[in-house]
Amino acid sequence: MTVCGRAMSRYDAIAALLDQDRPGHTLPQQLYVGQAAFDFDTQVLLKSVWLFACTVAHVKRPGDYFRFDLANTSVLIVRGRDGAVRAFYNSCRHRGARICEAQTGQASRLMCPYHIWTYGLDGRLLAARNMADGFDKAEHGLIPVAIENVGGLLFVCLGDTPPPIDRVKADIAAQVAPYDLEHCKVAVQDELVEEANWKLVMENNRECYHCESNHPELLACLGSNGFGKGLPEDAGAAGAVDDTKFVEVIGAEREEWKRLGLYHELIEFPGDWWHRVARLPLANGAVSQTVDGAVACTKLLAPFAAPNASSLSVWTQPNSWHHFCSDHVVSFSLMPITPDRTLVRTSWLVHEEAVEGVDYDVANLTAVWRATNLQDAWLAQINHRGIGSDGYRPGPYSTEEKLVERFKDFYTSRARAALALEG
Ligand code: FES
Ligand SMILES: [Fe+2]
Repeated sequence: MTVCGRAMSRYDAIAALLDQDRPGHTLPQQLYVGQAAFDFDTQVLLKSVWLFACTVAHVKRPGDYFRFDLANTSVLIVRGRDGAVRAFYNSCRHRGARICEAQTGQASRLMCPYHIWTYGLDGRLLAARNMADGFDKAEHGLIPVAIENVGGLLFVCLGDTPPPIDRVKADIAAQVAPYDLEHCKVAVQDELVEEANWKLVMENNRECYHCESNHPELLACLGSNGFGKGLPEDAGAAGAVDDTKFVEVIGAEREEWKRLGLYHELIEFPGDWWHRVARLPLANGAVSQTVDGAVACTKLLAPFAAPNASSLSVWTQPNSWHHFCSDHVVSFSLMPITPDRTLVRTSWLVHEEAVEGVDYDVANLTAVWRATNLQDAWLAQINHRGIGSDGYRPGPYSTEEKLVERFKDFYTSRARAALALEG
């Protein structure tokens, strides 16, 4: 079939939906709830960008591996004997079996359970029994996947031509590196399946317009300013939400951060880049993102000699956000499962020498974000259900939702670029 003299693409319907998109408004219904959009997102769009997979603390020792899946594609992130972290498709070069089914694990070699082809941690095929003469092991190593270490945050790209990442690396690493994620450990990891499209889970993360009515635990320690509203940098912008008191507080805090060597200017999705980095004051005297505001882990992270009443927040398009406190780090990522189900993975990291039950208590460490995640899961779920109904019309963003629009713009621009390449 042809359209205007060219072969009809299986994604022409997506292009038509993108054409309906209105600036300042939510997306057309089928881009959120449709199977075609989900297929496009997982088979094309999300393979054209860098995706956050895990931190270096998830693959701490040689032989540690972490499985990262995008729809039907599975990737293994592996720490080699040389300390380097590599990524490979989780598919055996013999007859294609999945090599590792476990989410995480430790292995001296990667052995396919089917016929026991065995690979080194660097992906080289080491052993394959009874192959014909002329079989070349060197040609049957695991297929590598592009991976980048951004200050201890590991990003993979499943496409053949990964987009630039250099500025993201420089900007994030400069602020995250002092937390020394190589010397952190994963204290606990949660996997929550939200009943909503992945883009709605992201949109929900990109605004705090909903915080005051939904997140009592979070507001007690983190506040809502700085998440799309209230910063001095916002002042004068069309529709900016001014909060004079917060501007005064953060002004004084920034002077203190400069004294401690912690201050960097706000980085907010510069140009066509896909990262935001902001240090924000904690609220109500808190020094950590905990229910009582006290540190959750008494063994502080470098470079802190004392608890600090701020947290560094990092957001990346299209699938992660992270908060760095002086005593722990909480790292979030999402991956689509189906059009209406999304995996949200939350990891709490502490100093590698911190001892559970002595330096930290898991229930206390996780309390604020476990409560917040459940509240957000419900919000994303009702959002998805309402969008899926006949009464849905794309609605206008508020002045507090500029970062939602930045996410939507990232999605639509990358979608158009990917469609152009698809022909
Ligand atoms: S499919 Fe892996 S060894 Fe046969
Ligand atoms: Fe929320």
